[in-house]
Amino acid sequence: MALFEREDNEYGGDVATRALSVAAVETHFVERVYGKLSKVYDIVFGPTLHPGRLSALEHMRIQPGDRILEVGVGTGINASLYPRHCHVTGIDLSRSMLDKARERVAREGLQHVRLMEMDASSLTFADETFDIVYAPYLVSVVPDPVQVAREMRRVCRKGGRIVILNHFRSPNPVLSRAERAISPLTVHIGFKSDLDLPGFLAQADLQPVSIEKVNVLGMWSLVTCLRA
Ligand SMILES: C[S@@+](CC[C@H](N)C(=O)[O-])C[C@H]1O[C@@H](n2cnc3c(N)ncnc32)[C@H](O)[C@@H]1O
Repeated sequence: MALFEREDNEYGGDVATRALSVAAVETHFVERVYGKLSKVYDIVFGPTLHPGRLSALEHMRIQPGDRILEVGVGTGINASLYPRHCHVTGIDLSRSMLDKARERVAREGLQHVRLMEMDASSLTFADETFDIVYAPYLVSVVPDPVQVAREMRRVCRKGGRIVILNHFRSPNPVLSRAERAISPLTVHIGFKSDLDLPGFLAQADLQPVSIEKVNVLGMWSLVTCLRA
């Protein structure tokens, strides 16, 4: 059963067609931002966003031998969290972020983790390659979150898990207005603050089995879906 019904909202239009964010970004802009952020990413976005990363690992229910795709692996901050009995592929667009991830994987001897430079909106993997496809703090970063979600679903096997960890626009009207107002600014520090969760799920045709609030003040959502 869908957790959100398709209904009109305060911004007009049903959830399947309304704009997901007031901010628009292009891939080369995102690449430039993360080129700069790579040096400070772990300090700025490490500890504060870590409780969500730990909850996501629990929701993945990883089994021995599982093939996991982490989309937007960044500096590899999640790499050491995966059990060694699974096979992890991490992809990212940013060479600077991936360099940090490669250093980490080598330093910590994480032989079950491989890293590849790739655009999440056009994955080069065959259909149904992975048991679990996970996007931690990615979908509000990319120009086209719906296209990324479609690609995530395509490469996930039927019955597999798609796990999305992200900040979405608040349902509170006051906060929601503030998040929309600042979104053109927050893209300069790496994310849109106003991505609309019901609209995103409807347009991506994802039906979550759970949505949990995580991190400080529950301002981030952990969305778990089963691939139909
Ligand atoms: C906020 S960071 C998340 C890093 C990490 N997953 C975490 O848990 O903190 C977002 C990452 O997504 C990457 N990214 C942005 N657009 C992308 C795209 N189209 N394809 C692949 N990676 C992308 C950025 O380079 C950055 O490393």
